[in-house]
Amino acid sequence: MGKKIFSGVQPTGNLHLGNYLGAITNFVELSNDNTNDCFFCVVDLHAITVNQDPKELRNNIRETVATFIASGIDPKKNTIFNQSRVSAHSEAAWILSCVARMGWLNRMTQFKEKAGKDKEKASIGLYSYPVLMAADILLYDTSHVPVGDDQKQHLELCRNIAQKFNSDFKKDDFLKIPEPLIQKDFSRIMSLKDGLKKMSKSELSDSSRINLTDTEDLIINKVKKAKTDPLPMPSTIDELENRPEAKNLLGIYSCLTNTKLENSIKNFSKKNFSDFKEILSQVLVDKIVPISQEIKKLLNDQNYLDKILLDGSEKANKIASEKVKKIHEIIGF
Ligand code: AMP
Ligand code: TRP
Repeated sequence: MGKKIFSGVQPTGNLHLGNYLGAITNFVELSNDNTNDCFFCVVDLHAITVNQDPKELRNNIRETVATFIASGIDPKKNTIFNQSRVSAHSEAAWILSCVARMGWLNRMTQFKEKAGKDKEKASIGLYSYPVLMAADILLYDTSHVPVGDDQKQHLELCRNIAQKFNSDFKKDDFLKIPEPLIQKDFSRIMSLKDGLKKMSKSELSDSSRINLTDTEDLIINKVKKAKTDPLPMPSTIDELENRPEAKNLLGIYSCLTNTKLENSIKNFSKKNFSDFKEILSQVLVDKIVPISQEIKKLLNDQNYLDKILLDGSEKANKIASEKVKKIHEIIGF
């Protein structure tokens, strides 16, 4: 039987190689299986948990849709929409926030990282962010959620919320318990400047990441400047343990070329990093530049992108509002 897929990406600009390899390639693969029913959501409500410039936000929403399509998601076969258009997400988030427990949310590491030292100044939305994410998923009776490894804890919380709702209201299978789908190898792509830090949209230095909108020259330059260590390329997997930058670059190469990590290590064993980097740049250029060009082309046709979001949200709205109606009945509204 086919899977019911739901995933979300924040429209906060700078979609990068980490998003691509950690999540979007998985979206594309799942969406290519015609037995699956896929929902890909531009989570604009999540984006405003930190300050956003309205004009940039609107552009970034369109850019996220363009990135989905340019990466190979067919908007005719899949539902692509933006979260704020489907009010059921906000409604369900409120209801589920009365089911979720403070103790559960207090354990979320993403909040701790994003709020930093001054938690008092973080928005309440940033804190309750995972509850909205649970609402997104549960409204569609989702069976599988493709995400990067950093979202594993949020998925676990979503499962706990669904189980508690079902047991509080004695409705065994009403909210479906979703399974995470996380890439087996390299579910976390690291910064090009620091192999111990996640590649991230919010990192100040643009050279820490390969953006999906980067040009050939930019990609070549960023790979050239990527941090390495003074030793030659490793020759065993064990060596990678203490060499995070080598591990990350070899991981990126392996993902992009569909090569087993062991074989990539063998191919480049004892070579200079500069030789490897030249080959890696070429692989990245071949993969990213066509996507980057397609994104730019799609962004010239805003009406097309807006129509996809409008159609998608109509489809999503039908399903999500039905589910909220049933939730109301169960609760006693
Ligand atoms: P976000 O940009 O935070 O909305 O993330 C969108 C998707 O990309 C989520 O599934 C994340 O788990 C995934 N993701 C973000 N950064 C990385 C990374 N550095 N490595 C792997 N996956 C990532
Ligand atoms: N929190 C996710 C992230 O930052 C985005 C997201 C929001 C999401 N709602 C979701 C992912 C539902 C999967 C399913 O990456």
